[in-house]
Formats: sequence, C-alpha cells, structure tokens
Amino acid sequence: MARDKKLIVANWKMNMGVHESSLYLHELSRMIQPRRDVEVVLAPETLALQTLSVQINHRQFKLAAQNFYWRDHGAFTGEVSATMLRGIVQYGLVGHSERRNIFHESDKDIRAKVQAAIRNNIKPILCIGETASERAWGETLDVINDQLIGGLANITSEELEDVTIAYEPVWAIGSGQNALPYDVTIAARGIRSQIKHLYGAKAAENIAILYGGSVTAESAADYLAIPDVDGLLVGGASLDAHIFSEIVDKAHSKSTVVKKG
Ligand code: 13P
Repeated sequence: MARDKKLIVANWKMNMGVHESSLYLHELSRMIQPRRDVEVVLAPETLALQTLSVQINHRQFKLAAQNFYWRDHGAFTGEVSATMLRGIVQYGLVGHSERRNIFHESDKDIRAKVQAAIRNNIKPILCIGETASERAWGETLDVINDQLIGGLANITSEELEDVTIAYEPVWAIGSGQNALPYDVTIAARGIRSQIKHLYGAKAAENIAILYGGSVTAESAADYLAIPDVDGLLVGGASLDAHIFSEIVDKAHSKSTVVKKG
C-alpha cells in the first residue's frame, strides 16, 4: 500500500448478515464517492464477501476478510482458507486483538496467516497493540516490537511492501476510550523504528500504519493529521453510514491539504 493514499478500513465484526450487508453497501455507495486519494476497504462477515464482491464498484471499495485459516486446503473442519478468499478480497485482517484474546491466536498462528495471505495475493493488515495493564506498566513499545517480530518472521522485504500495520491498543477497542493523538504518534514512530531495525530505512518510510480504537467522526481528523498515520481501522463507527462517510470525507480533505501544502 503506497503512502500517497489514506486507507480507511471498516471492520463490521460479527454484525450484519448477507442481506443486511448488501443493503448497507448499497447505502454506502450512494454516500461515498470514489476518490483517488482514499482507499475504502470493507470487512463484512465471511458469508457476505462473495455477494459483496459481485455487487461492489471496485473503484469505490475494496474488500477485506476479517479472518481466515493459514493452511490452503485440507481436513480443517469449519475453516475458510486464504486460497478460498483469493480473488474475492484484496485485504485480510490478521492478529486482531479479538482473535488473539478470544480465540487464543498465537504469534505462530499470526505469522502463518500473514504468509498465507501473501501467498494468496491478499494484502495482510497486521493488527498489534498493548493491553491496559501492559500500558500501565509502560510496556507499549515492547509489545509493539514483540508483535511485529512475531507477526513478520519469515516475511521478506519484498513481501513487506504488501503489508499494512494497524496499531489498535486493546483498551481502546470498543471502549469509547480512544487513544490520545500523542500516544498514537509515539506508537506509530515506534512501529517505524522497529521496521527500520528489521528491514531498513526505506521499508520503514514506506510501510502504511493505521490507527484503530473507538474512532469517531469527531476524532478521525486528529489521527489523520499525524504524519506517521496513513489511515484508520474503524469498528463501531463503520456501522453507521453517515458517520462512516464523514470519516472517509475527513481522509479525503486531509489528503487534499497534504497535497496542496
Ligand atoms: P471500535 O472502533 O469499535 O473501537 O473497533 C476498533 C476495531 O477493533 C477495528 O478493528
């Protein structure tokens, strides 16, 4: 993902079935114009992906899987692989804190999923972030470093070009307690510095970093104004078409300001 665009990702989580998602996409497509400077990515539940991929204007929206298994085929009852999602989605969330904490995904699972996504032409959005207690202990940057090492092991510099990092502090997700722009600035700098350590200065400069955690239409512009932040991963606020389109508009006007300035 080149950094000349803002990336706004809507994570609908386990909300809205196929029919509802389809109706909601219809509503969003009337409210959000295709923009050259903003990429809007929708992550509905897995069953809705196929329907939405047919319905969608691909210039207007891209699709992301919220989850997938890292093996391509085989006896893995109930799982959907990145191979099965290939051609339907352009992005895939990996390592979301709900996957880490509720479904006990380990760094080993997460790095296998990052690799599976890349192997199947899906751009991984690797989610990282500290818990409230890790934050209280001042361990935010250590957690970020460890999760980057854990998630990106075996990923080459060339493959890294397709990876986006989403900084989502666990305590800010769904809590209404969004991180302060200052904290996000420090975290995003920490991410670039660890990427520099692992892959060099050019990779650190090029990698796209998103912020996620209780983003609202009111707070979006503050995060988008942070030089190291290239977009947003939006949960709850993406379920309201008016609020979500307002967030996308903020990304558009932000990119316009950056270009002119
Ligand atoms: P909320 O915006 O609801 O806090 O969710 C953030 C998130 O987890 C996006 O992946």
